[in-house]
Amino acid sequence: MRGLDIGVAATVAGFFGLAVMAGPDEVKLPESYQTTFVNYVSVDHYDRKRVRKMWVNPEAHDTAISGESLPDGTVLIMEDWDALQDADGNLMFDDDGRMIADKMTGSRFVMEKNATWSTDNEDWDYAWYVADGSPRPEANFEGCFSCHAYRTDRDYTFTYWKYVSDAAR
Ligand code: HEC
Repeated sequence: MRGLDIGVAATVAGFFGLAVMAGPDEVKLPESYQTTFVNYVSVDHYDRKRVRKMWVNPEAHDTAISGESLPDGTVLIMEDWDALQDADGNLMFDDDGRMIADKMTGSRFVMEKNATWSTDNEDWDYAWYVADGSPRPEANFEGCFSCHAYRTDRDYTFTYWKYVSDAAR
């Protein structure tokens, strides 16, 4: 019984250790990133009629592109936008055949790499902000850690690693 109690206590402590550190306490939404960051890719999601815009801070971007690895201080932001539709709800496209970002839904997902943090995903921590720039209340960050952990060999990233490795070719 004693062993079990200790096990449970350790799990709970581990959980709160993560919860206290994770999220907007650590990872901020950088001011005016829409004018200072690089929009390295936009992803069209036809099924959900959404466009996702991905941003990276320029200092990290320069280093990542030349060194093919993501430096300390990398900040990645993902914005969710409703795509432009006509009155009948059909998607509209620009001259390049791309979907058109119309209204930001409000969700802004941020991940930041900081060597002074030690998280379940090495140096990465996560936060979730809404349209007005405030942290989303009751956000759950466990999903961020577990889903991005599938990409351990690509520094826990999805689109950015692909962008950097494609650029290196
Ligand atoms: C179910 C799996 C899953 C969960 C949970 C998840 N992500 Fe992601 N994340 C993805 C995928 C897949 C992409 C690429 C998205 C695309 O192509 O539209 C992505 C992309 C991102 C990006 C853009 C950089 C990159 O690597 O492509 C950021 C920033 C991000 N996620 C942050 C977060 C945060 C913060 C949370 C938690 C609030 C979170 N994610 C939860 C799967 C997930």
